[in-house]
Amino acid sequence: MLQYIPFKDYKGGKHLYRLWNREFNRSYPISSTLFKERILDDVNFDKENSYIALYETMPIGFILIKRWQQEALFYSETKTATISLFYVQKDVRNMGIGKELLNLAIQGLKDYAYIEKIQLGNDLSNLFSGLPSDLNKYAPFFMNQNFKQEEGFVDMIQIVKKGVDPIANQFETPKNVDFRIATEEDKEMILKLCINNDLLRQTYIIKKYFESGGSGRRIVLAYVEDQLIGFVRIYDSKHNSIRVNFFLDKSVGSLGVMGIDKEFLGQNYPEKICQEAIHYVIRRGSKKIMIEQTQNVEFYKKLGFKAFKYYMRFVKYLTRPEE
Ligand SMILES: CC(C)(COP(=O)(O)OP(=O)(O)OC[C@H]1O[C@@H](n2cnc3c(N)ncnc32)[C@H](O)[C@@H]1OP(=O)(O)O)[C@@H](O)C(=O)NCCC(=O)NCCS
Repeated sequence: MLQYIPFKDYKGGKHLYRLWNREFNRSYPISSTLFKERILDDVNFDKENSYIALYETMPIGFILIKRWQQEALFYSETKTATISLFYVQKDVRNMGIGKELLNLAIQGLKDYAYIEKIQLGNDLSNLFSGLPSDLNKYAPFFMNQNFKQEEGFVDMIQIVKKGVDPIANQFETPKNVDFRIATEEDKEMILKLCINNDLLRQTYIIKKYFESGGSGRRIVLAYVEDQLIGFVRIYDSKHNSIRVNFFLDKSVGSLGVMGIDKEFLGQNYPEKICQEAIHYVIRRGSKKIMIEQTQNVEFYKKLGFKAFKYYMRFVKYLTRPEE
């Protein structure tokens, strides 16, 4: 017998990643730690509106949903719910199970009047920022379920060549820029820069970084005449569990969010700051550097990055009966 039950009523929830791994162990392995960190422990995980398809007592599919439930002073994403992970076992695909899981989740989400749409991936603590290009054969499913395709995200990469300094000083700026690694004392200054420049997402991410015990060593700061003009969040190859792209090998470092004072947005300042951030990542031993999930391809191309993966972005607007 086939039945659908909400995640909150299912005892084996913490093992669901194994079902996924049976098929995607090579391309997108999900460890129990990662599953716990990105989904189960995320305050936005919605156990009521996530569903499991069971055949007898065996799970054969699931949809895991996130809905904004977090207190956040500066930033919130209440209007958009997210499909965090969605899977139907290979041998029972195309039989309507995925559609039913999706419908159940959407029915539940419609009870929250403020939720306008549901997206595939791309929440703040995501596993996927969309449908990875190598899974594009599943794209028609989303199109058939009335998802609209929006501009997707690109992962970009740069291989560090031995003996070649990619940081040859090619970006000239009108004023001299100084750089250093942040410390805990810099937290307020960085947040101030974010708030003054309406960088809400950055505010959220930086706050979370320090509140989770971050020392500052993964933020590069840029100064002009003692004024903080920008920062870049970096990830080196050490203890990298929280970086976005966990599917790649551990020697990969990356640049994360960037925040620049509006006055310094042009004139090569952003390029210069990223270049220096790359320098730090290389010095810490990374052999490959990534830009994860960006829509700013042209900018990073100038810094020597090349696109290597694309995530198709799907969004569905929820329709409700007229009052
Ligand atoms: C996406 C997925 C969950 C869909 O589940 P499913 O149970 O196979 O989907 P359904 O059987 O409910 O399909 C529903 C509809 O889409 C159609 N459909 C499903 N897969 C399709 C495909 N690959 N191409 C064209 N149409 C497809 C079905 O024909 C059906 O249409 P209809 O009801 O109008 O006839 C499943 O294919 C899957 O697990 N894919 C791999 C993992 C993945 O990519 N997850 C998303 C990222 S996390």
